[in-house]
Amino acid sequence: MGVKKAILPAAGLGTRFLPATKASPKEMLPIVDKPMIQYAVEEAAACGINEFIIITGRHKRTIEDHFDTVYELEENLKQKGKDTLLEEINRLSHLNFAYIRQGRPLGLGHAILRAWPFVKDEPFAVLLSDDIIAPEDRLLQEMINLYNEIDCPVVALEEVPTEEIHRYGVIAGEKEGENVFRITDLVEKPEPAEAPSNLAIIGRYILTPDIFKVLERMKPGKGGEYQLTDALKDLLRRRSIYGYVFRGKRYDAGDKFGFLQATVELALRSSAVSEKFRSYLIEISERLKTEHS
Ligand code: G1P
Repeated sequence: MGVKKAILPAAGLGTRFLPATKASPKEMLPIVDKPMIQYAVEEAAACGINEFIIITGRHKRTIEDHFDTVYELEENLKQKGKDTLLEEINRLSHLNFAYIRQGRPLGLGHAILRAWPFVKDEPFAVLLSDDIIAPEDRLLQEMINLYNEIDCPVVALEEVPTEEIHRYGVIAGEKEGENVFRITDLVEKPEPAEAPSNLAIIGRYILTPDIFKVLERMKPGKGGEYQLTDALKDLLRRRSIYGYVFRGKRYDAGDKFGFLQATVELALRSSAVSEKFRSYLIEISERLKTEHS
């Protein structure tokens, strides 16, 4: 069965972006001219995924509004002949969105379990919108291709420096191909000394519906949260799980510095501002050089 559905967890409190996230969702923070979550939706839509299940919480209603039709705005743009903008706001109108509230932010595993009634018995993708993948890198498509070939869950991996390993789920595995590992163990956010490798799980997964039964009987793990990593470790006792090593460009926009990097680099690719922005960056880097010399 092909991957047609995606779950996007978006119920977190966004504490790393306070005060911006006091009353607005982190997922709606704009990077250039699109909210963060739209990059993940577009990435999945480019792979033929057309059903989106967004796990939300209180203060997250603007996400629902964002992916809804805004007919008065459409009318206004039509009347003014602003066809390009009209096209832009309707570009995702063929996609279906469902929203489920998580209630309490009890962890990624808990968030994913909420989507079971919508996913039922199909394979599905999970995209964590904090991780922005450069569009030309086609990570999700490569993971779907691998899933179609092997019919096993696939998680995205990235080699990360030892000092950052404690921020991620980490795997042990056996190399089976250029970028493919058969996973033999998983640990959620280990101390560097306990990490089984430097291969960290990043925010893209292709999962099979048997994960829901595991999630349903899970106990809280690291940080008292229901961890998806622990559920995958449990599932590993019954079936193979693979890791796909990503070697392209990822921005960790869940972090202030990563958010700024994403903003700068995606602005450099945006046809609307790239030329002007590039000259501006050259100008300020010259200025910074003279200030420091
Ligand atoms: C979650 C997962 C972790 C994974 C990470 C990727 O952690 O629990 O295993 O490595 O996403 O971004 P979070 O960043 O939500 O704390």
